[in-house]
Amino acid sequence: GKGAAMVTAVAYRLATQHAERQRILNTLRLSRAQLLDVKERVRKEMVRGLSKQTHEQASVKMLPTYVRSTPDGTEHGDFLALDLGGSSFRVLLVQVRSGKRHKVDMHQKIYSIPQEIMQGTGEELFNHIVHCISDFLEYMGMKGASLPLGFTFSFPCHQNRLDQGILLKWTKGFKATGCEGEDVVMLLKDAVRRKQDFDLNFVAMVNDTVGTMISCGYEDPKCEVGLIVGTGTNVCYMEDMKNIELVEGDDGHMCVNMEWGAFGDSGELDDFCTQFDHMVDASSNYPGKQRYEKMISGMYLGEIVRNVLIDFTAKGLLFRGKLSERLKTRGIFETKFLSQIERDHLAMRQVRSILQHLGLTSSTCDDSVLVKEVCTVVARRAAQLCGAGLAAVVEKIRENRNLNHLSVTVGVDGAVIVVQETLQDLAPQCQVTFHKSEDGSGKGAALITAVTESSRWPKK
Ligand code: GLC
Repeated sequence: GKGAAMVTAVAYRLATQHAERQRILNTLRLSRAQLLDVKERVRKEMVRGLSKQTHEQASVKMLPTYVRSTPDGTEHGDFLALDLGGSSFRVLLVQVRSGKRHKVDMHQKIYSIPQEIMQGTGEELFNHIVHCISDFLEYMGMKGASLPLGFTFSFPCHQNRLDQGILLKWTKGFKATGCEGEDVVMLLKDAVRRKQDFDLNFVAMVNDTVGTMISCGYEDPKCEVGLIVGTGTNVCYMEDMKNIELVEGDDGHMCVNMEWGAFGDSGELDDFCTQFDHMVDASSNYPGKQRYEKMISGMYLGEIVRNVLIDFTAKGLLFRGKLSERLKTRGIFETKFLSQIERDHLAMRQVRSILQHLGLTSSTCDDSVLVKEVCTVVARRAAQLCGAGLAAVVEKIRENRNLNHLSVTVGVDGAVIVVQETLQDLAPQCQVTFHKSEDGSGKGAALITAVTESSRWPKK
């Protein structure tokens, strides 16, 4: 009768809605074949970035870092470290003790960098940084100490030496004017000079990936790769000098800062991008740039999720088709919520309360299930893409050394379970250990400073 027809109609509508949701989610799912393809393309870009002829056009810049040696435990002393590149700025005092049980003590203070300073003038930015350093020295009672200093600066820089870095371009949330093309060490020195309050003794400037690799290497000598999955994403690794055409000399190794976040900027990821990736890219600070980073790192994942949810809502598949002002607001889905929601054991009731906290109140239980699925799919794709890139890196190291089997450690800052699974699957000849770095980037800068300082004096 009529009732049965209605039930059938409802069932039919539910089935079509389900199919439609899955169709959209499938665009965000990658097959193993696609991941292998990503790995191959990353590998190709690595070679292009290293070679003199193709370096200019290559999207992955493979920047030489002038870091050739890692700490051996003999270095010691007190060092200052600065860490700029995420959402905050840190100043650290790092005390390195030598000896069998080498030990590193750290004191740090974290300073926020207001949005208007990140995106104001370079002079304002560096004045602010110098102000923070001054505050830290005051706080530690160390004004006038002039300790050797290591600077972790997590942006693409061209280096000709360890204590210099010409900013190629800003990435992530930074946009301060007058810095691109300039030596950042000089900009900081100028700001210190302007303040006339204390002296700094610059020794080294490193990327956060390099800092992370070095600090892990201090504990595990097999650590030859540094991986960051945070606000941005990037990798560095020890490359053979003979393959680094931008630097004279063929002997030994040098750490290369890949700047892999820019992979895809010449279209290498177009086959895998969805409409949501295009939307996130278009409304970002740098449209067309850092495409790989925009599919992987914390600064963007929440925005991908939000765009998927908007699309579902507009199609009447979520939130009863009601597009709230909240959902239209950029940045509401911070990564921390995303990873909370995505966590396996989380009960739907908890998902719902997070959604309510975000101001997405009208959500039903079905809505919570769907939001959780979106978060899971987006986070999984990010980790798999990252794993595919890492597979290219460890395979290159393995082939550089003509090995059938490579055993290597990756120093990591970030969460990486699915990354690890994907990597194992795509690079089976490499046995990769992940070493979580705690506070790696700042500590690493200090350790490099220590290595550099101690190598100035011949060892006894
Ligand atoms: C961005 C920066 C890169 C940094 C990464 C992680 O990709 O360009 O230098 O290592 O973020 O912080």
